[in-house]
Amino acid sequence: MRIGTPLSSTATKVMLLGSGELGKEVVIELQRLGVETIAVDRYANAPAQQVAHRAHVIDMTDARAVRNLIREERPHLVVPEIEAIATEELLRIEAEGLARVIPTANAVNTTMNRERIRKLAAEDLQLPTSPYAFASSLEDLEAGAARVGFPCFVKPVMSSSGKGQSKVRDAAGVGKAWDYALSAGRVKQTRVIVEGEIKFDFEITLLTVRHAGGTAFCDAIGHVQVEGDYVESWQPQPMAPTALERARAIAKKITDALGGAGIFGVELFVKGDDVWFSEVSPRPHDTGLVTLSSQYQSEFALHARAILGFAVDTSLRGPGASAVIYGGMEAKGIAFEGLEQALAIPGVDLRLFGKPESFKKRRMGVALARAGDIDTARANAKRAASLVKPVGGG
Ligand SMILES: Nc1ncnc2c1ncn2[C@@H]1O[C@H](COP(=O)(O)OP(=O)(O)OP(=O)(O)O)[C@@H](O)[C@H]1O
Ligand SMILES: [Mg+2]
Repeated sequence: MRIGTPLSSTATKVMLLGSGELGKEVVIELQRLGVETIAVDRYANAPAQQVAHRAHVIDMTDARAVRNLIREERPHLVVPEIEAIATEELLRIEAEGLARVIPTANAVNTTMNRERIRKLAAEDLQLPTSPYAFASSLEDLEAGAARVGFPCFVKPVMSSSGKGQSKVRDAAGVGKAWDYALSAGRVKQTRVIVEGEIKFDFEITLLTVRHAGGTAFCDAIGHVQVEGDYVESWQPQPMAPTALERARAIAKKITDALGGAGIFGVELFVKGDDVWFSEVSPRPHDTGLVTLSSQYQSEFALHARAILGFAVDTSLRGPGASAVIYGGMEAKGIAFEGLEQALAIPGVDLRLFGKPESFKKRRMGVALARAGDIDTARANAKRAASLVKPVGGG
């Protein structure tokens, strides 16, 4: 792709739908390549909007609002950064040739619904997954849970970051899980997936890049999830050669089926040589923030290069780790202290996302660490994160 001059008639324009911390890094990488960037979110001063050429605040689940904005801005590429957008409208926009959707409108529409992506993976592609069932009523869910067995996980088919998701230990807990899923789903809908538990040794994100020259894999990223939200990640996650081979084969199949160009976060469960597909994001993955320190080209740089049609280098720079910094309070305009101490740790780097409002469990920043080995990197990232203290603004 040829790149024009930003803010001129030759500009190469990329619009992000969703402007969080992952989008912020993508925008920075696009800016470095001379791309004109437009950051969209549902609230003002979202992280990526603070570094983009222009920002817009719209309801991204409103098909008409999305279409009108794309008509007005005429971006060459539309890059969804979150799931909660009017994906059916993106299918039409792509079909009409109004803009190219990254990686494809179909990939974005398929992955935002757990039912669609699970059926594609397990039924069409025959990839190994947890046992599962879908339900639209409490009765169906009770039957489904009995079929997949306990413990099991109940998740709204449209939700992310653990919202509305719960682990159910026995039949007595199903009702509560149903109520919780209904209360927290992204849109008013009453459909859930129930999955039997995979008793894995560890779980990984396998960042997979579809680019002009083919498909490339990053080293596996290990991570820890608490209540469906990532708290810590590291790279590389050591794994048996057979498991790695299987992980790559699964990632290749699912990303080939989704198509297009860009980075995908393929989530997998690993036990010994066995690997199960869990889910996939057709965009940079939160656990992949670690690549800002552990790779020569971060997942954000890889995404930017791949979507523009350029070559990528997925090689590891050295062992690294990331640890999440939470807001710890409900307040606007908070501040952070302890940065001197955190940044004095060798190999440590920080990202503060600049979110205008803090919640107790909102991810406000991340500590990154590079070290000679994973254990040291993890310890240093966690220590750095714990040294960063959010404080009230006033
Ligand atoms: N069937 C399962 N067996 C074992 N663990 C599971 C299963 N389903 C979910 N988990 C655990 O819960 C975590 C979150 O699940 P999942 O990725 O499906 O939810 P999510 O809301 O999409 O989360 P995120 O958006 O953070 O990726 C998984 O990473 C895993 O640790
Ligand atoms: Mg997940």
